[in-house]
Amino acid sequence: MTQMPTKVAIASDHAGIQERQAVVAHLEAGGHEVTDFGCAPGESVDYPDYADKVGRAVAGGEVERGILICGTGIGISMAANKIHGIRAGLVHDDFTTEMSRRHNDANVLCMGARVGHTIEALCRFADIFLATPFDEGRHTGRVAKIMALENDSSTVAS
Ligand code: RB5
Repeated sequence: MTQMPTKVAIASDHAGIQERQAVVAHLEAGGHEVTDFGCAPGESVDYPDYADKVGRAVAGGEVERGILICGTGIGISMAANKIHGIRAGLVHDDFTTEMSRRHNDANVLCMGARVGHTIEALCRFADIFLATPFDEGRHTGRVAKIMALENDSSTVAS
């Protein structure tokens, strides 16, 4: 039985403050230990700075998983995926959230605050992300090829 992660880092830019605060409260109520990297209300910030904070906490092993929120989820996922060791998945619904874990072993969940999801949906995506294991098997080699791209793209062709 896979142990559900308990240590989670989260951040958002100014577009996702309300959503981030709701997800933090939801996860803490569920017993998770959440490190909240901001941003603070009232600030207008650059989302790569927040992807950096969460991505490095995950890559450095300080937390088991990360959660990032910006307006669309696009910019913050692009930024997070530049950090070595990070597999950030931008999700749209329950299915893509589950598959980001089962097939891609995503270690960072990225969500959009301005794309029509309810707060309840964002909290549910976070729950699914933290509860779903990696399927391993045929997916293990594929994920290894993703990670090999970080170092030398010439090593991944089969
Ligand atoms: C901020 O206005 C917005 O550009 C940002 O939250 C995000 O949507 C970028 O991808």
